[in-house]
Amino acid sequence: MIFQLTEEQLAVQAAAREFAQKELKPGVIERDRHMTYPKEQVRMMGELGFLGMMADPEYGGGGMDTLSYVLAMEEISKVDNSCSVIMSVNNSLVCWGLNLFGTHEQKEKYLTKLTTGEWIGAFCLSEPEAGSDATSQRTTAVDMGDHYLLNGTKNWITNGGTSKVHLVMAQTHPELGHRGINALIVETDWDGVTIGGKEDKLGIRSSDTHSIMYSDVRVPKENRIGADGFGFKFAMRTLEGGRIGIASQALGIAGGAYELALAYAKEREAFGKPIGQHQAIAFKLADMATEIEAAKLMVYRAAHLKDEGADFGTASAMAKLFASDVAMKHTVEAVQIHGGYGFVKEYHVERLMRDAKITQIYEGTSEVQRIVISRNILDGQLYLPVMGMAEKV
Ligand code: CAA
Repeated sequence: MIFQLTEEQLAVQAAAREFAQKELKPGVIERDRHMTYPKEQVRMMGELGFLGMMADPEYGGGGMDTLSYVLAMEEISKVDNSCSVIMSVNNSLVCWGLNLFGTHEQKEKYLTKLTTGEWIGAFCLSEPEAGSDATSQRTTAVDMGDHYLLNGTKNWITNGGTSKVHLVMAQTHPELGHRGINALIVETDWDGVTIGGKEDKLGIRSSDTHSIMYSDVRVPKENRIGADGFGFKFAMRTLEGGRIGIASQALGIAGGAYELALAYAKEREAFGKPIGQHQAIAFKLADMATEIEAAKLMVYRAAHLKDEGADFGTASAMAKLFASDVAMKHTVEAVQIHGGYGFVKEYHVERLMRDAKITQIYEGTSEVQRIVISRNILDGQLYLPVMGMAEKV
């Protein structure tokens, strides 16, 4: 096994780190405090190529591998998780899904603008009564011949207020259950689309999370993704990739908190020596470093399997499950290491602790990841090789 990043991957990592430290860090506390959408920072992410990293260059994408995307997500998530969730949804759920399943015409019309950041996209699956139970879609898309008539409400939509394009899952054939769901590309300035108020959240506060109402929205048939009834599978396949994005966000949050805690432990003195020299703190740092390293291997492996064209659904669910727990646990520890300073905004760790929580919830709660993993294990998937293909037994 060779654990060596390529020159290109190292360059992406360095560029993302520089962007995060120079451009995101200075205003992140104020944006979080006032829930200010990072408009200028998102524009810069588009300019730097961080919004459509894995999409085909033919449609304005970076044509990069998933590991490069993970490395960029990780560095940006060490600092600003509102920016990194905007980036993750646009890259993994919107651009990657469209890139894989869209028609050439859909890609020309939408993907070319989404990869560059000219437009931002949103992924609209969750509903007031269909969160984890995603097959129970109440939003309807009635087949009217040349178009669908879309009605319903979506909840917790990241990029809800700023996106120009929504990928909306809606029920067309209720008698067919999940096999009757379609995925539709909807432009937000079409008649009948109403954006609800911005949610006031615990973490990722400057990302714009809204509910969306669709009332008799006419969606042309050519805006359906895939065959009639493919919508639920489109959502599941896309979320498999999205979970790698959120796992890398969690990895970045844990890594950011660790870097801050380590620096603080070397600098802050108590009882005549740096606190890192006291075993109580040194052991916390050792546990942090160890578990972050384990999470890193899982996230990078999931990305590797995806790039190899192997089945990566179990690996991405495992990576998200584990990395989000590591993020939550060790941001709490980072606050503890900082003592009273950890409890105030200026030291950054309290924000990372608040941001960590959402990684255990969105793109499938930890409970959903356990459903996915346990079903696949019981179905006979064996995962022995760390970086190799998953074998089915
Ligand atoms: N790829 C392709 N098809 C898949 C699939 C996958 N990964 N997973 C399931 N399917 C298919 C199944 O094969 C089945 O199809 P058939 O009947 O034709 O064989 C169909 O989908 C239904 O599958 P299940 O019976 O397994 O469905 P279920 O109702 O038992 O639930 C679940 C499965 C895993 C719990 C699923 O509902 C789920 O993932 N829920 C969570 C949804 C989620 O992640 N929401 C997040 C919203 S997006 C977000 O958070 C974005 C953001 O803003 C940050």
